[in-house]
Amino acid sequence: MIEIKNLFKSFEDRPVLNGVNLKIEKGLITVVLGVSGGGKSVLLKHLIGLLRPDQGEILVDGIDLIPLTEVEFNAMLRRFAVLFQGGALFDSMTLFENVAFPMRERLGLKGFEIPKRVESLLRQVGLPNIGWKMPDQLSGGMRKRVALARALALTPEYIFYDEPTTGLDPITSDAIANLIVKTHRENRLTSFIISHNINEIFKMADRLALLHNGVVAAYGTVSEFQQSKDPLVRQFLEGRSEGPIQIME
Ligand SMILES: Nc1ncnc2c1ncn2[C@@H]1O[C@H](COP(=O)(O)OP(=O)(O)OP(=O)(O)O)[C@@H](O)[C@H]1O
Ligand SMILES: [Mg+2]
Repeated sequence: MIEIKNLFKSFEDRPVLNGVNLKIEKGLITVVLGVSGGGKSVLLKHLIGLLRPDQGEILVDGIDLIPLTEVEFNAMLRRFAVLFQGGALFDSMTLFENVAFPMRERLGLKGFEIPKRVESLLRQVGLPNIGWKMPDQLSGGMRKRVALARALALTPEYIFYDEPTTGLDPITSDAIANLIVKTHRENRLTSFIISHNINEIFKMADRLALLHNGVVAAYGTVSEFQQSKDPLVRQFLEGRSEGPIQIME
């Protein structure tokens, strides 16, 4: 389990995280919602050490990440996989090489083990027999699938997704949402997803967290959110620009 406790972060005196408290429970899919610019990606970057908080704790199975040395932190990072907004692949490498790369570099695997595992991962994400293609020969949805296969190559315990379906059509988005759930179950992961897409959120989430004004303003199951009378939750689920959530333009 990951427990985020009282996390604060400002950029040049502008607060973005204002005391975030959130539990990412083991074995569940937790989805974070919130308006654009609300600090969701900033929160995720704290989990993987790309940003340091001004204050607060991030406990992974009880161990606080913040005071760890680089060596200790890197050991912890091996348990995490991340799919960033945009899901960057190495454009000069084939799909096979994209997935094989972390196995060689990070896991130190060699020889015949690699092709077998790469093919099995590409099959798992629905892309068998196309390992020889280059990333620019793929559609956006296929690139997301390859990025997922590459993330799984490191056999993580935790997987973090930053807007995994942004830029995809509704049908491909739905297929990716299904794949995320399937991947979660088959690999017994703990998943943490930033998403805006209400249909997809309802399909995937075991727990929802609404980030608003730098704090988790609402937390619960999908049915608790659907039944909620909290005006923040209602506005978000109904996608209205009028209401207590003010957008910055
Ligand atoms: N490294 C940084 N330096 C300064 N400001 C930053 C930095 N990273 C993020 N911010 C600011 O923090 C705020 C939150 O950004 P963040 O990217 O977390 O939003 P978000 O909720 O992920 O939005 P979106 O849904 O559009 O991706 C923004 O105002 C952004 O400009
Ligand atoms: Mg973001």
